[in-house]
Amino acid sequence: MSIKTSAPTRTRLADQPGSENSAHPLLEAPLVGQALGVDAKLDWLMTPAEQVGMLYLLNQLRPKVAIEIGTRFGGSLQVLSRYSDKVYSLDIDPEVTKRLHGRFSNVEYLTGPSDEVLPGLLDRLQADEAELSFALVDGDHSTEGVRKDIDALLKYTPRVPMYIVMHDSFHGVCRDGLKAADWAGCPYVHAVELDFVPGIVNPFPASLGQLWGGLALGVLKPEPRSGPLEITEWSKLTYELANAAYEASLREPLLPRVVKRIKQRLGGER
Ligand SMILES: C[S@@+](CC[C@H](N)C(=O)[O-])C[C@H]1O[C@@H](n2cnc3c(N)ncnc32)[C@H](O)[C@@H]1O
Repeated sequence: MSIKTSAPTRTRLADQPGSENSAHPLLEAPLVGQALGVDAKLDWLMTPAEQVGMLYLLNQLRPKVAIEIGTRFGGSLQVLSRYSDKVYSLDIDPEVTKRLHGRFSNVEYLTGPSDEVLPGLLDRLQADEAELSFALVDGDHSTEGVRKDIDALLKYTPRVPMYIVMHDSFHGVCRDGLKAADWAGCPYVHAVELDFVPGIVNPFPASLGQLWGGLALGVLKPEPRSGPLEITEWSKLTYELANAAYEASLREPLLPRVVKRIKQRLGGER
């Protein structure tokens, strides 16, 4: 018996809302659905593997306080809200607060660019001796934007172990920002893995072949580390090979190559 397989063709991950985007079939699986809760139907712009990675961390950590940079449709916020006592969710887009009004009772929304809003929030949490243990960086996807968000978070002195998760670590522009951040300059950073969940070669027509997705992870502890910090990249080879293939496809577009290969097969053409 042959089983038909396919890459998703819907616009998931294409940053568009729509009921058909709200849940990957995997989320209908009892364990995953249970972990998400009954309300988990908002558009969550992450792959199934990323969603499960987030669920695992949040379920284990149960943060007293969490921060999200990049609210969008509330997809990742629905799980942050479910597993945390209190969430601060930042977005530059003022529509977000209207869109999600009344949806999550434990979420405080902050509107504005994160490089303006985040430092003040962190000062406030530091003064309140808040037990901040989780931050999702998924806002400004430019190299400078990613670097600034991380460097702001690294100014916070953690009172409990703190996990910083960064989305789109497989996208070169974001990955450069992740690498440019001053991880080593922060004594509380104990581990950084750029490929905690590796990203994908995008199957969606609008950005076919580009590398997107992936979760990077940084771990801070209240006690300073001893010795130098090593930033690890578990999927470095996968990333570099897929990137090289994409660059090559730009020089010689993918479609003509595929057509040529089919013609070769059909007609014995070389
Ligand atoms: C990819 S979406 C977030 C998706 C969401 N975390 C999820 O997984 O469902 C990125 C969001 O970041 C916001 N954003 C972009 N630049 C920003 C900035 N400088 N400061 C704060 N938010 C920003 C955008 O408005 C957008 O809503």
